[in-house]
Amino acid sequence: MKKLLFLFAFLLVGSTQMRADEGMWLPSEILKKIKDIQSQGFKLSAEDIYSVNQSSLKDAVVRFGGGCTGELISPEGLLITNHHCGYGQIQSHSSVEHDYLKDGFWAMSRAEELPNPGLSVSFLEYMTDVTDEVLKGYKPKMTEEKRIALVEKNSQKIIDKAVGENKHLVAHVKPIYYGNQYFLFVYKVYTDVRLVGAPPSSIGKFGGDTDNWMWPRHTGDFSLFRVYAGADNEPAEYSEHNVPFRPKKYFKVNAKGIREGDFTMVYGFPGTTREYLFSEAVKYTALVSNPHKIALRTLRLNIQREEMAKNQAVRIQYASKNASVSNAWKKWQGEAKGILRMKAIENKQDFEAKFDQWAEGKPEYENLVERFKALYASIEELSLVQDYQTEALNAVELIAFAGRGQANAEKFYKDYYQPIDKASFIALYKAYSQNIADEYQSPYFKEQLQKFGSVEAWAEALFTDTPNLAMAEEIYRETNAWFRENIAPALSEVNTEITLLYRAYMRGMMEYNEATNGGKIFYPDANSTLRVTYGKVKGYKPADAIYYTPISSLDGVIEKDNPDIYDYNIPQKLRDLHAAKDYGRWEVDGSVPVAFIATNHTSGGNSGSPVLDAEGNLIGVNFDRVWEGTMSDVVYDPEICRNIALDIRFALFVIDKLAGAKHLLDEIEIVQ
Ligand code: ARG
Ligand code: GLU
Repeated sequence: MKKLLFLFAFLLVGSTQMRADEGMWLPSEILKKIKDIQSQGFKLSAEDIYSVNQSSLKDAVVRFGGGCTGELISPEGLLITNHHCGYGQIQSHSSVEHDYLKDGFWAMSRAEELPNPGLSVSFLEYMTDVTDEVLKGYKPKMTEEKRIALVEKNSQKIIDKAVGENKHLVAHVKPIYYGNQYFLFVYKVYTDVRLVGAPPSSIGKFGGDTDNWMWPRHTGDFSLFRVYAGADNEPAEYSEHNVPFRPKKYFKVNAKGIREGDFTMVYGFPGTTREYLFSEAVKYTALVSNPHKIALRTLRLNIQREEMAKNQAVRIQYASKNASVSNAWKKWQGEAKGILRMKAIENKQDFEAKFDQWAEGKPEYENLVERFKALYASIEELSLVQDYQTEALNAVELIAFAGRGQANAEKFYKDYYQPIDKASFIALYKAYSQNIADEYQSPYFKEQLQKFGSVEAWAEALFTDTPNLAMAEEIYRETNAWFRENIAPALSEVNTEITLLYRAYMRGMMEYNEATNGGKIFYPDANSTLRVTYGKVKGYKPADAIYYTPISSLDGVIEKDNPDIYDYNIPQKLRDLHAAKDYGRWEVDGSVPVAFIATNHTSGGNSGSPVLDAEGNLIGVNFDRVWEGTMSDVVYDPEICRNIALDIRFALFVIDKLAGAKHLLDEIEIVQ
């Protein structure tokens, strides 16, 4: 155990080899990386990044809602995140009379800021390594089930102690490196968060799904909120007596801007990465899972697009759904391509062969490779059944709605168009019946199909004038029960074994790396906890004979502007500002910068994350990655992987010139 802990303490450093770009680092461990970060140009100290004794950069970063990041940019609780992160809130305040999605929204006084029930932001109070406490009482001979129970019990104790009587605190204990280490995260949660401003979608979502995941990009993907607190500055439920929250730390904004080669740091909450996968799992992702999921979503998207093109009302109803279906659909394609282009499967296989040789005679690691292969082979079909359960059977809107007890019925029907759902049902259930082996299809599914004679006839019975909710509920219940009882247990049994292998494999890879001076860097996979990543503003070469420069500008927005295409139809006022070159103090080289790319290693969840300069000032707001680099969740390529950030000056320009919200600029500290 001692030896092991030493190894981890050491390896969190990322070994002796220094390399920027790849890696998502735990803020509390940043001291071990600070030399490299500074060697890349960073001017501040480790204590400035993360400290429990003084205010630090971390105190200006929040987890925003369910899956985004946001940051404080004024002493009065003003917060910036992405337009696509605030989308739900902007939409919920919109109606035909005042369509904030279409026209944008700007609170011209504090009184006009709009409350958002259900929305919260979480500040990380502190994080700490609790491995010893979590594994207290653990004996190497324990079964994994016993270990899981022990970890859960010990974690709960740690959480209870950390939270105590404080009802504003929330704590989690999370494993890293497949349970070789555990960290405690304690958050303070603020629940009065009001909408302050959002540009029209024609800026905030400019380029729509066509430009999504792509560079060059010209999206003004930001929205503004304000955190409110009780008179004591502590979290409080919404009340008109609440006052703007005074943060321990807020970011100053650097309006001097950036150039290619400049240092950048992204501080946020990446969701999930799987950088240490065994080759078989990468193969499954690139060659089986992604292609099937892509095909299933293509079916839905084609149906949606066809109906949306026919009918303006349907286009509005399905705008948001279509965007979310297409988002992962497009990413999976880039990811699979990237994995193959990088020969990640072959490279992993080569490594595994060497590792296997090295492991000979080491009882802890011997035969790991063989066991991985056997387990993955045994699980492949079941994994596909799982993919089809979510992406086909449960992807029918009516069935999912019935399955969750018809919750939020009004909202559901407002954005529901039965012809789309019916056609999707037919396409998806056919695909399931064709692509899932007979023995894994539920008896219920087969019976119904037989009873009705065809999926089409089944659809006629389900999608009657008033939808047959009882039948929808039955389909959901029966197919999910079958999955839960007959597929999931076997899957989870094997997955438990696989996790065990990874726990050893992780240690093995680190030891192997030490023994061979491999120069590999290790960092914990993303798990929705706060991370620091750093890199440089840098262009890339997406394909033969193409080079992309790293900064886009308003001129590019105007080049793409097209009143006939919904996603490219910018507000007239923006055209006018451009024609008059009325850029105010945001002008650079005769235009206004809009977005830039850099080599920071980010993932889903990093949306809205602050992009900082060498002094820790805000230069951008992260919102995407380039398509050719989306495999970075599995394997990172410094030549191609780029995050995409909104240039903060474009946000300032929009707030200033388009919205005329000077009062907001006044509370932001601008370094010019
Ligand atoms: N690709 C970005 C992120 O995952 C932005 C998504 C929202 N934009 C869109 N056009 N769908 O997730
Ligand atoms: N748009 C993503 C998000 O919502 C960020 C892009 C990525 O996956 O890196 O978090």
